[in-house]
Amino acid sequence: MKVIITENYEEMSKKAAEIIISVVKNNPNCVLGLATGSSPIGTYQNMIKDHKENGTSYKNVSTVNLDEYVGLTADHNQSYAYFMRENLFKGIEIDMNNTNLPCGSAKDLQAECDRYNALLETKTQDIQVLGLGSNGHIGFNEPGTPLSSVTHIVDLTESTIKDNSRLFNSIDEVPRQALSMGIKNIMQAKSIIMVVSGKNKAEAVKGMVKGEITVDLPASVLQLHPNVTIVCDKDAASLL
Ligand code: GLP
Repeated sequence: MKVIITENYEEMSKKAAEIIISVVKNNPNCVLGLATGSSPIGTYQNMIKDHKENGTSYKNVSTVNLDEYVGLTADHNQSYAYFMRENLFKGIEIDMNNTNLPCGSAKDLQAECDRYNALLETKTQDIQVLGLGSNGHIGFNEPGTPLSSVTHIVDLTESTIKDNSRLFNSIDEVPRQALSMGIKNIMQAKSIIMVVSGKNKAEAVKGMVKGEITVDLPASVLQLHPNVTIVCDKDAASLL
């Protein structure tokens, strides 16, 4: 596990974007595993800037996202499908047919998980972007999720509902469930890059990097992956 500590969020975002862009340049047909949340927004802005200034092409790139809220359609402004369109896809001229997220409004949620798992079997992420929940979750794999898990229906924990409520009008509007890639789907990526910022993540960063590998802190399993880079600002790294 390689840890890069940056001065602030801006530097973290630049560094992470550089790493992702170099994957795209080396392999214009690559598969990007993508994440949502406030952590990767700056990274995505740097990718858009690079696309506009240097012409890095996403024409043949395909993407698989980690997760989606249950019950929100792709045009709901809190859905992760909407987030991805607004924060990345529309700025890099990617073919939307090559972008994939679990569908949170599917009638049969288990069938949707099965569909997504089958898709992931054909799309190994060349690089998987991750954020980190303050309780150590990755994707929406909450504490207790087994290492062998694949895409599944998740009951969100109270702490995640509370963390994510800042983006909704009220906590009552936050969906209680999500569909998320499992730990096994994440670990299949050839490389993983995590962006983490802020003091509220410091405890989880410490556990992930220095603690024992335990399902109680899902991100700690990244210690078992051969090619992980954590890019974190100095606040998030303050307990290392
Ligand atoms: C959500 C997402 C995660 C993300 C986490 C942290 O729960 N499902 O993928 O990593 O939030 O979000 P933020 O970066 O906004 O702190």
